[in-house]
Order: sequence, then structure tokens, then C-alpha cells
Amino acid sequence: MYSFDHPIERRHTHSVKWDETERFFGVRDVLPMWVADMDFPAPPAVIEAITKRTEHGIFGYTAIPYSLKEAISDWLKTRHRWTIRPEWLSFSIGVVPAIATAITAFTAPSDRIVVFSPVYPPLFQLVEKNSRELVTSPLLLTKKGYEINWEDVQEKLKGAKMLLLCSPHNPSGRVWTKEELIKLGTLCVENNVLVVSDEIHADLTLPPFQHTPFASINDAFADISITCVAPTKTFNLAGLQCASIIIPNNQRKKQFDAAQQRQGFFTLNTFAVIGAEAAYRHGSDWLDALLAYIQQNIEQTCSFLNTFLPKLHPIRPEATYLVWIDCRELGMEEQQIKQRLLQKGKIAVEMGSKFGKEGTGFIRLNVACTRQTLQEAFHRLVIAFDQKS
Ligand SMILES: Cc1ncc(COP(=O)(O)O)c(C=O)c1O
Repeated sequence: MYSFDHPIERRHTHSVKWDETERFFGVRDVLPMWVADMDFPAPPAVIEAITKRTEHGIFGYTAIPYSLKEAISDWLKTRHRWTIRPEWLSFSIGVVPAIATAITAFTAPSDRIVVFSPVYPPLFQLVEKNSRELVTSPLLLTKKGYEINWEDVQEKLKGAKMLLLCSPHNPSGRVWTKEELIKLGTLCVENNVLVVSDEIHADLTLPPFQHTPFASINDAFADISITCVAPTKTFNLAGLQCASIIIPNNQRKKQFDAAQQRQGFFTLNTFAVIGAEAAYRHGSDWLDALLAYIQQNIEQTCSFLNTFLPKLHPIRPEATYLVWIDCRELGMEEQQIKQRLLQKGKIAVEMGSKFGKEGTGFIRLNVACTRQTLQEAFHRLVIAFDQKS
């Protein structure tokens, strides 16, 4: 019913991924497999809703309707078995700005904020840019994949004000189990640590893995939680800029809203409202089809690497379309890997150190593209790491 194989030209659309590659990487004509958006059109229902709204022709200030809050609540209940109250919802133009607001609303300069590393860069950058003390707890890479270092995080949460949790985790692709979240949440409750749970990748959890919203576990966790979700990764709507923040503690919700008002934020743009509601109401089948396509792309990537580049070890993601690849067996410096990828292979990926020093020696490959593009990427990876040249 839905096809993800149809190639669509994205150049000359002001796409960060396709049009800004040269600016970011300094090399022309490289295949962009870096920034986390997808080369697929949004669900048909979203395109229809936006087209209809566009035809109206008047784009004045747009309110956030109750129907959008209902659509989000229904989505969380059906897809993630989490019952929220619509009044717990706030909105933002993005998860990153929302996290920045949470940091300034609930912590003071020099307060300690814990993040697991390697992690999506803005999580630690926002802590530093807001002059809070960054406390990193490096994840352990075991045969089972990335795991939390419990002894380490237990120590580091003592005296901390906030934990920025990425759940599911980018770049490792881990979907934290309910047991892990219970252990973590219990430590946070004991230490009076607020949990900002960035769950933007939740909808991209790949079966049979199951995402557990942190705040859904029990009332004590809900009380210390600020959860960020968004339709933007799920339905490829990053350019519409829309995120929802769920804060069950009424007092804290008021503090968050007041902080947003101090920043001058009041409402979303017209297309964010229309697109988000259409996606949450009508995007479920499309998402299931997308996940099946992504699973296949991941499968193909892992088997390609195992066969043709056995020194590159993919950490199979449990969520997301981002494949985190361990390149340490190559025995090359990151700069050399980057050079080979860009100059020889003509392919742009994210270099691991961008995600914290624990990411050095890894690369992150975005496989949310057509099979045709994926094959082209494989071809370029082989050229990049060809031992003979
Ligand atoms: C973990 C995580 N959080 C947030 C974002 C970006 O969110 P937004 O565009 O809503 O600011 C990304 C994008 O890659 C992400 O991976």
C-alpha cells in the first residue's frame, strides 16, 4: 500500500541533509547519510491535510486546538500504552528547544546534570551552553550491546539536579527495558533528580522491541518527569517543527509554561498543527509499513558489512534508522576514517566523536533512504575502505 522505494530528488529544497552537505563537510557531491531525517515523503494523510489548508490561503496566527491534544493522547495510549491527561501537554517548536527550556526552568547555573555518553550532541551541548555542570556517565559496550554502568550512574546521580535521558537512545539504538528504567527511575527518585526523557525516537522502535515511556511506569516517576515526544522523526516532519512536552506535575508544568512565555513562545505554526494532528490520527498504518522497510534496510546493512567490510561492526539498533558502527578494528584515527569516507568514498556520515569522546572510533549511518540509495552507499563504503588504495 505504501512504497518507500520511489526516489525523490531532495536537492534544491533547502534540505539540510542534501543541500548543506558541502558546507558541513567541505566536499562536493558526497552521498548524504548523516543528519537524522528520512528520504521518504510524509504519510499521504499529512500531505492531504497540509494541501487542503494551503488552498485556504490565509496563514494567520493559529491556535493549538484541543483536538491535537486528543490526537496525541490517543496515539500514546494506543502505541505506547500510556494514558496521559491532555492538560499535561505543552508544545514547542522542537525537542531541543524544549530541553533547553527545561534546563533553564528547573536548574540553576552550576547545577549538575547527568547524561549518558555517547549521546545525541545537543543533550550535552545544552548543559554546557547554559553553564550547568555536565556530568557524563559512559555507557558500557558489552556483547549484548550498550548498557548502563550502574555503579557509575549511582554515584553520579548523587547531588545532581537533572538527568537527560535519551529513550530510545541515539546513537546506540538501545530501547531501554522496563527493568532498566525502573532501576534508573528509582535512583532518580531517591536522589531527588528530575528526569527529562527525550522520547523522540519512541515511535521508531523496531518490533519485537517495546518502548516504555519513563513516566508511564508509576506515579513517582511521572511526578519527576518531563517527557518530550514529537511527530517529526516518526513521520519525517522535522521541517514543520513541532514537539509535545508532557509534564504530569501541575506545579512543574506551570513553571515550564512560564519559562516558555519568558522566551516569548506562545503557539506553533499553522502547518505544525495541521501536520501533527493528521499524522497522529491517520499515520499508524504508514508507520508500520515504514518500520518494516527500515528493518529490511538495517538487515541489509548488517549483512553487507559482515560480508564485505568485516572490520566494521554494526551495533544492531532496537529503534531508529541510525546504525552505529564500530570501526575500531580498522586501527585508523578518526580523521583518517573521515578522510577516506569523504575523499575516496564520497559519502557523508556522522563521525562518532561528535557524540562525546566515548564515540571515537565509531560512525553513524542513516539508512532511512531508498534501497537504491542504500546500495549506492554500500558501494561507496567499499571504495572508502578498499585496502589496496
Ligand atoms: C534524541 C534526539 N532528540 C531530539 C532531536 C531533534 O529534535 P527537534 O528537531 O524536535 O529539536 C533529535 C534529532 O535527531 C534526536 O535524535
